[in-house]
Amino acid sequence: MVAETHLTPDDLIAPLFVREGIDEPHPIGSLPGVVQHTVASAVREAGELRRLGVPAVILFGVPERKDAEGTGASDPDGIVQVAIRALKDAHGDDLAVIADLCLDEYTDHGHCGLLTPSGEVDNDATLDRYAEVAVAQADAGVDIVAPSGMMDGQVAAIRDALDEEEFAEVAILAYAAKYASALYGPFREAVDVEICGGGDRKGYQQDPANVRESLEEVRLDVAEGADLLMVKPALAYLDVIARVRAEHDLPLAAYHVSGEYAMIKAAAANGWIDGHLVAMEHLTSIKRAGADLILTYLAREAAEALA
Ligand code: PBG
Repeated sequence: MVAETHLTPDDLIAPLFVREGIDEPHPIGSLPGVVQHTVASAVREAGELRRLGVPAVILFGVPERKDAEGTGASDPDGIVQVAIRALKDAHGDDLAVIADLCLDEYTDHGHCGLLTPSGEVDNDATLDRYAEVAVAQADAGVDIVAPSGMMDGQVAAIRDALDEEEFAEVAILAYAAKYASALYGPFREAVDVEICGGGDRKGYQQDPANVRESLEEVRLDVAEGADLLMVKPALAYLDVIARVRAEHDLPLAAYHVSGEYAMIKAAAANGWIDGHLVAMEHLTSIKRAGADLILTYLAREAAEALA
């Protein structure tokens, strides 16, 4: 009666990995219970999630071939575009289909953008690629694009490109404050990404020491036309979630990332914690901090528990 926070399935967004060229779903070792889907199994999983009251999925592609420009990301027959079409055909308006919009799953060097000849990420050249990816995803029928590369100006570039191609109704979920976190480790196994030369993303993602810097990043994304905002990761950044919530009225999402999920599963497998109770505590706390929506690999099990 006096609970201030209520978690419901419609707060949840399920990440789905879709891999090109496989006939069966492949398990992901560091994310127990999560798989790389075929297009058909992704469609089935989305149907199950819908039945449980989860309103949306976010797609990540695992292409067969990678190259310097991340060509697969904008290929009309690229794996995510194929999956978007199949999901919209099967589920129509019952399911919101979100596509992660980035190049790292598709580049052979593993960075989120194009590289200059000296190997630096080229912010402005990358924006043109993001615009192409956005249009390809919109053309396939995506409802929301979610740029996660943290290039400066990415929201404006994508908004312009979508509007120009008559995709004004496609919304942008901006990874607005995304930290250069060590918690993305299992995700990189899931999408088969290794950053070349043992590199990192500190040149474009946020410093975990900073919150004011993130608030500036969020303001820029709002000014550029973001429709929904995201803070990522979630638990170590509840203060950031609370401050973004206090300052902005757009819907706010938080990404409970792969490392956060993996830590629960690993400790639970050892019998050190009650995994399900910890999972529900994490999700409730993220909502309490101010998130309206939570992207989480726990979506299915949480929705089953809440049903
Ligand atoms: C980049 C992207 C990443 C995640 C989502 N989008 C990885 C990165 O920035 O290195 C991580 C998600 C997770 O860890 O669950 N396309």
